[in-house]
This record gives sequence, C-alpha cells and structure tokens, in this order.
Amino acid sequence: PVLVVDFGAQYAQLIARRVREANVYSELVPHSMPVDEMLAKDPKAIILSGGPASVYEPGAPSIDPKVFDAGVPVLGICYGFQVMAHELGGKVDKAALGEYGKTAAVIDDAEGLLAGSPADQSVWMSHGVAVEQAPEGFEVLAHTDGAPVAAMQDPVRRLYGVQWHPEVRHTPLGQKLIETFLHECAGLDSDWDASSIIEDQVAKIRAQVGDAQVICGLSGGVDSAVAAALVHKAVGDQLTCVFVDHGLLRKGEVEQVKHDFVAATGIRLIAVDAADDFLDALKGVTEPERKRKIIGEKFIRTFEKAQRQVIAEAGAEGKEVKFLVQGTLYPDVVESGGGDGAANIKSHHNVGGLPEDLKFELVEPLRTLFKDEVRAIGTELGLPDEIVWRQPFPGPGLGIRIIGEITRERLDVLREADAIAREELSKAGLDRDIWQCPVVLLADVHSVGVQGDERTYGSPIVLRPVSSEDAMTADWSRVPYDVLATISTRITNECRQINRVVLDVTSKPPATIEWE
Ligand code: XMP
Repeated sequence: PVLVVDFGAQYAQLIARRVREANVYSELVPHSMPVDEMLAKDPKAIILSGGPASVYEPGAPSIDPKVFDAGVPVLGICYGFQVMAHELGGKVDKAALGEYGKTAAVIDDAEGLLAGSPADQSVWMSHGVAVEQAPEGFEVLAHTDGAPVAAMQDPVRRLYGVQWHPEVRHTPLGQKLIETFLHECAGLDSDWDASSIIEDQVAKIRAQVGDAQVICGLSGGVDSAVAAALVHKAVGDQLTCVFVDHGLLRKGEVEQVKHDFVAATGIRLIAVDAADDFLDALKGVTEPERKRKIIGEKFIRTFEKAQRQVIAEAGAEGKEVKFLVQGTLYPDVVESGGGDGAANIKSHHNVGGLPEDLKFELVEPLRTLFKDEVRAIGTELGLPDEIVWRQPFPGPGLGIRIIGEITRERLDVLREADAIAREELSKAGLDRDIWQCPVVLLADVHSVGVQGDERTYGSPIVLRPVSSEDAMTADWSRVPYDVLATISTRITNECRQINRVVLDVTSKPPATIEWE
C-alpha cells in the first residue's frame, strides 16, 4: 500500500481518498506507529499529512528520520513537509507571513514533482510556520510570499515536499501533483479498481471461510448488500442473509428489502421479526452510546438465535454458522476509534457496538473501503441502481433519530414524518444530490403552536439533509425553499403531535450527520 501517516490533520482521510482516486491502494496509519511497523507493511510510498502542531515546539509530533532512509519514496504535505525539512537539517521557523486559503505560488523549477506545472499556480495553504531553507541535497521547486520554500525535492533519495494542500479541491492542480508523485516519482501503476478489489476480496473471503456456513446481517443499505453479494460470489450457497426487523426501520422498508434484494441477487434470505425484543431492551434508555451498544448486542443475539433456522434452510444439518458478514466501511472503523489512534466519536453499531463474547468470526470485506468505492463494486457485481444508489441508513435505524426515549408511539410519528420527507425529496429529483436526509424527532422538546384555532404543545421534527463524499465530512444541503415548505406543511398536517419543522444548517464537523 501507500501509507498516509496521520499527524492529526483534518485532511488525512482526504489524502487517502485522492491516492485511491489515482487507482492506487492507500491506508491511513497514525504518526505514533513505529517506523519499523510501517515498513513491515511493505509500503510502496509514504505520504506525511498535515497537522495542527508547529514542528519546533517541544512535544510536537514527529517521525523517526529513518523513514527517509528506507528507500521508500516519501511526500510530505504541509506539516509533514515541515517535519521532513526539520528532521533532515533544513530551517523551519515561524512564517513572516501566515497564509490561509487561496495563495499564489511561483514555480521556480517545473521539474520532478512539479513537472509540467505552469509558472504560476493557485494553491490552498494553511500555515503559520514556513520552511526557510531546504535541507542539503534538496532543490527548491516553488515559493510563495509567506513560504520561501513552498515545494522541494531530492530525486536521488526520492523525497518530496509541498507546503500547500494538493488533496483539497481548492488546489486545482492538486490531484495532478499527487498523481505525479505516485506514478512518476514513485513509479506506481494504477491497478486498484473495482474489479481488482473484487478479485482480491473474493480470494480473501474463500481463504477465510473455507467450507463453513456464513450469515450476513442485511440492513437494507448499500454496504451490507454489497458485502453480501461479494461473499455470495466467493462462497455461493454457504451464505444465508438475515434481515432483522428491529422495530426501528422506516416505512415500507421490510417489504422493499425483501423484494429488491432477493429479486436482484437470488441470495437466500430469512427475515426475523425481533421488534419486541429490541424495544423492550431499549425501554427507558436515552443516552446515545447506550442505545448503540444495546442495539449492537441485540443484533448479535438475534443472529445467534436465527442460527438453527439458517442451518435448516441451508440444508446443512450438523454444521454450525461460523462466520458473520458485516458491511463495515473504513469511515465506520476510523470513527469508532478502530483506526489506530483515532478518537471514538460514536460507536457504529457494527464496530464499537459488538458484544465482547461474540461467537462468530467476522467477515468484513469492505473494511478498508470508502462508500463511493463500495458503490463502484456494487455496480460491477451487477446490483441494480435502486440498491447501489440507496442513501445510507444507519444500522440502529430510527433508534438514534428519536432524541429521548424510544417508544412505539414516537416511532410511528417519526416513521410518518420520514416517509413524507423522503417522498417529497424524491419527487423533487434530489435523491442523488443529497447524500442522505435524517429526519429527527426531538421527542422531549415541546413548543407551543396553534392548529385549527387550538393551542398545541407538540414536538419539533428536524430535517437534516446533507451533501457529502464519504460521510467523514459533510455540508448541509441547500434544498430549495419550496420543497422544504411542502415537507413542512405536510408533516405538520399529517403527523400528530408535530407542530414545528426545523432545518439543521450545521456542517460536519462540528456536528455529525446523525444526531446521536
Ligand atoms: P455520523 O452521524 O457519524 O454518520 O456523521 C456518518 C454516516 O454513518 C451512518 N451511521 C451508521 N451506519 N451503523 C451504520 O451502519 C451505525 O451505527 C451508524 N451510525 C451512523 C450515518 O447515517 C452516516 O451515513
């Protein structure tokens, strides 16, 4: 892989994605990982990300300089570039002029990393520290007003660095720079694409599973559907899908999943009605992390209980189910704190919410992938657009969209409001513009309204339409006012106890997409 060493940057994920967009496989690792461990992964190139610290401050994160002597091409970006300059004997200091945002760069030498660059380039900067002097052996390739050395290279040792952020779209030639580094400087081929991922994963799944029986928890979302299709391609009839109705699903979801999925894939599917079980366990619970843990654990218990039926349907008497397939994605892993050193933002039910005494071994073929890659694989595997382009829906379902205790009455109200919002957004042709639109019930909040000349004291519904590339960051969607107006009118007319509809206009960060 290409390793992206995370120095605590907002943009480290983005670098990993841009590398993959160049059809080269990349993985994120924390800067705290020992260099020997990094090298043991046999990296074809290493990219050092930006970060919030200043290299010359005591305790600033760094990296063992032997990474620069390992014969592996290295690209330092922003803070990573300063670390490289600092560790190799260059001069790094507080910049005379900090640069934030769009900046004009002057290319002094359009060679190597900047081969073919125009003499002037617009780049995206964010720095108050600058490399004043490049280390010995390096050529200076570019400068800006605030950065005497804005890009440098030592082609003999294959070490490269830029002060600006090539990974953000605001640097128009940024992707080209990353591709030049990967292909020209590091000599890597573009061999990472949907069909190579499929081939790779099918082989891995076969090796892991052997002739054992496998179940897959299907949620109706694209991830578990693609995971199931991959496993089915690998081990065929050894797979049975289990669709758990936990009582927290949206209107029409059970029927739709049963119909769409089976029609498209022909995979054996068992539907389990476990609503009472889940809702009993969630009685009185309001704290989001507890909700997530309870739901995660209940899922597993439900799969355990379904085992006998699975074995019977599979005609595999005498055997037991050894493996559980989950559609866990890379962002789930990173955000649940599993991405080596990342903070636990929330426990995605299928990662941090698993019970400790799990009897199944997990099969997670999408664990290193981003959503757009999963969609490409789904299409390559022949899944229809209705499945591949379904908007994400979290495993804990409406349970994490009722702020407060989950009750059947509240679920009914939310289900109606959600169905209205989805219907109107679809009607307006916005399905692909919007990444997803959680509809949230603030169940314990009450406000005064007037409906039919009567005073009401009802709860608000929040609309949370967002646009995103991978759910790691998101912006609120600018849905046309008239569409919002229709949704608002219909929800307040048709949903009992709802007398206000409000719009969430917060990006991620600082918020998350879901409210819990
Ligand atoms: P957040 O709220 O963390 O959501 O910004 C990021 C994306 O993940 C989805 N999500 C989940 N998906 N199990 C899932 O399968 C979960 O526990 C879970 N929590 C959040 C969320 O809908 C969004 O697409």
